[in-house]
Amino acid sequence: MKASRVWRRGSKDMTAMPPPRHRGAAKKPMWIIVLLSIVIVSLIGAYVYPPRRYSACYFFASSVCTPFKDWLPAVTLREPTDEEIASAVVIRDLLSMPMPVSKNPKIAFMFLTPDSLPFERLWEKFLQDQEGRYSIYIHASREKPVHNSSLFLNREIRSEKVVWGRVSMVDAEKRLLANALQDIDNQFFVLLSDSCIPLHTFDHIYNYLMRANVSFVDSYLDPGVHGTGRYFIEMFPEIERRDFRKGHQWFAVTRRHAILIMADTLYYRKFKLYCKPAVGRNCIADEHYLPTLFNIVDPGGISNWSVTHVDWSEGKWHPRSYRAADITYALLKNLTSFNENVHIASDDAKTVTSTPCILDGTKRPCFLFARKFYPDTLNNLLELFSSDTSA
Ligand SMILES: *[C@@H]1O[C@H](CO)[C@@H](O)[C@H](O)[C@H]1NC(C)=O
Ligand SMILES: *[C@@H]1O[C@H](CO)[C@@H](O)[C@H](O)[C@H]1NC(C)=O
Ligand SMILES: *[C@@H]1O[C@H](CO)[C@@H](O)[C@H](O)[C@H]1NC(C)=O
Ligand SMILES: *[C@@H]1O[C@H](CO)[C@@H](O)[C@H](O)[C@H]1NC(C)=O
Repeated sequence: MKASRVWRRGSKDMTAMPPPRHRGAAKKPMWIIVLLSIVIVSLIGAYVYPPRRYSACYFFASSVCTPFKDWLPAVTLREPTDEEIASAVVIRDLLSMPMPVSKNPKIAFMFLTPDSLPFERLWEKFLQDQEGRYSIYIHASREKPVHNSSLFLNREIRSEKVVWGRVSMVDAEKRLLANALQDIDNQFFVLLSDSCIPLHTFDHIYNYLMRANVSFVDSYLDPGVHGTGRYFIEMFPEIERRDFRKGHQWFAVTRRHAILIMADTLYYRKFKLYCKPAVGRNCIADEHYLPTLFNIVDPGGISNWSVTHVDWSEGKWHPRSYRAADITYALLKNLTSFNENVHIASDDAKTVTSTPCILDGTKRPCFLFARKFYPDTLNNLLELFSSDTSA
C-alpha cells in the first residue's frame, strides 16, 4: 500500500540517522500531519466506498469492491463453504460465456394454472400468424385443462400439485423452464397465469423482449413485515438479511438466466428449507427466491420490475381483479401507459417508491401483460384487443 510504504520509509530514516534533539522536535508536527492525513484519507475512502458487500466481493471480485478490498481486515471475510465456491464459479462462467445462437428465436409462453385457461381465444388472436416465433407450455396443477384453441392442445407438461406460498410453486416454475429450455430456439421465457392477458401486439412484445439485455424480474427492498420481516436467520450466512428481496412472481427471463435458475441449488435449498408460510412470518417462496437470487448473483442483469402489471393499490390481500364492466379502452390505455413502476412497502409508513422503467438508457412503458382478469371479461377484451393494440 502506498500509504504504509510512505510511513515505513519515514520511520527507517528516523532510526538510521538519529537527528539532534532540536531537529526531532521540529520534525514532530510533520509526522503528526502525515499520520493525520493517512487517517483522514482512509476515513474519506471508507465513507465513499462503504464496505457494504464484502462477502459478495470475496466471491465476485467486482470493480466496485476493488477500491477497498485490500484495506479490509481479513477477519471480516468468512471462509466460503465448498458449495459456495462451486456455486460462485458456475454462476460466474454462466454469466460470461457465449450462449448458443438461434436462427429462429422464439418466446416461450409458460402458463402456470390450476386448470383450464379462460383466455385461450384471446391468446389465439394475439398469436395469429406468428407460427415459429413462440412456443406454449402449460403447467396445470389441479386438473387437465379443456381447450378452446388448437394452439393450446397437447401443450401440458408433466405437472404436480402446487401449494400456495410453498416451494412447490417455485418447483412448478422450474419445471416449466426446464421443459421450455429443451427447445434451443426459445430465447425468452415468460411466466403467465390463467388470469393474465397481453397488452400489446405480438410484434411489439417480441421486439421489446428480444432487444432487452436484461431479464424482467421484480426485485425490491421492502423493510416491512412482508419484506425483510420474512427473512429467517437460518438463511445466514449464504443469504444475508440485507440481500433479502421481494418481488412479484411473474417474470420474463433470458435463456442465460433460465439456465442460471436451473443451475442454482445453493440458494434454492435455503428457500426450500426456511421460506414457508408460518405463524407470524408468512414467507412466500415464489415472492422472494428469484428476487433475492438475482439480487445476489446478477443485480445489474435484471430490470427490477415485472413486465406484468398488477394493481396492489387497494391495499388488500389480493390485487385488484377486473370484471367485465371494468373493461374499457381507457383502462387498457391506462395500463399500457405507465412508465414508472410503483412498489408499496409493508413498513408502518407504507412507503411508496416509484421508479422509472429504463431500457437502454431510455424511459419506456413498463408493462406488456396484465392481471388479474375474471373470465367474464373475455368478450369485452376480444372486442377491444385489435383496436387497442393497433393504437
Ligand atoms: C370452451 O369450450 C367449452 C366446451 O366446448 C365451453 O363450455 C366453454 O364455455 C368454452 N370456454 C371459453 C372460455 O370459451
Ligand atoms: C436493480 O437493483 C439492484 C439492487 O438494488 C441494482 O444494483 C441494479 O443496478 C438494479 N438494476 C438496474 C437495471 O437498474
Ligand atoms: C391510470 O389510472 C389510475 C387510476 O385511475 C391513475 O391513478 C393513474 O395515474 C393512471 N396512470 C396512467 C399512466 O395513466
Ligand atoms: C445493457 O445495455 C446498457 C446500455 O447499452 C448497458 O449500459 C448495460 O451495461 C447492459 N447491461 C447488461 C447486463 O449487459
